[in-house]
Amino acid sequence: MKLLQVKDSETMARRAADLIGAQLLLKPRCVLGLATGSTPIETYAELVRRFREGALDFSKVTTVNLDEYCGLTGENPQSYRYFMQQHLFGQVNIPPENTHLPNGAAADPAAECARYDQLIEELGGVDLQLLGIGHNGHIGFNEPDTAFTAPTHQVQLKEGTIQANARFFSSIEEVPKAALTMGMSAILRARKVLLLAGSDKAGILRAALYGPVTPQVPASLLQLHPDVTVITTGAVQ
Ligand code: F6R
Repeated sequence: MKLLQVKDSETMARRAADLIGAQLLLKPRCVLGLATGSTPIETYAELVRRFREGALDFSKVTTVNLDEYCGLTGENPQSYRYFMQQHLFGQVNIPPENTHLPNGAAADPAAECARYDQLIEELGGVDLQLLGIGHNGHIGFNEPDTAFTAPTHQVQLKEGTIQANARFFSSIEEVPKAALTMGMSAILRARKVLLLAGSDKAGILRAALYGPVTPQVPASLLQLHPDVTVITTGAVQ
């Protein structure tokens, strides 16, 4: 594991964009695994800036996002599809048909999860997976206690996650109670992992990186991955 402790979120975004940019240059036809949440927003803005400068080309890139809320279509401003459209897809030259998220509005969530796993397999797996981390150690929506080996699946969100995500909704009642998420096994199969964490995550990040590997802290499973880069503004060591 490579740990980069940086001074501020702007530096974190630049370092993350360096790594994602390098992936695009080395393999233009790559598969990027992407995350939503507040942490990667500056990184997406930096990627967009570099694209506008002509330094990056997304025309051959394919993306698969980690997760989506159940019950929300891509037109809903609270959906992760909408988020990605705003922050990245709509700002760069990635073909829309190359951008994938689980369909949270699918009538049959189990079939949708199976379709998503099949899609990732057909794409040849993820080259670089970008991750954030929840205050409880969740990755995607793999909450504490869920099976490590689960494929893409539907999860009931923990109360703490619902509360943390309420900041994006006008009331806590509006936060969906379930989501579809890529499982830890697909995340661990990514060839490279890039985890971003602000200083508010220092405690859980320390537990994930240096504590026991346990389903209580899903991110701790990343200790088993051979190519993880962590960029953080927090004091982890
Ligand atoms: C979002 C996701 C979540 C977030 C995590 C941290 O796609 O997978 O696991 O990465 O909840 O969210 P922020 O960055 O908002 O603190």
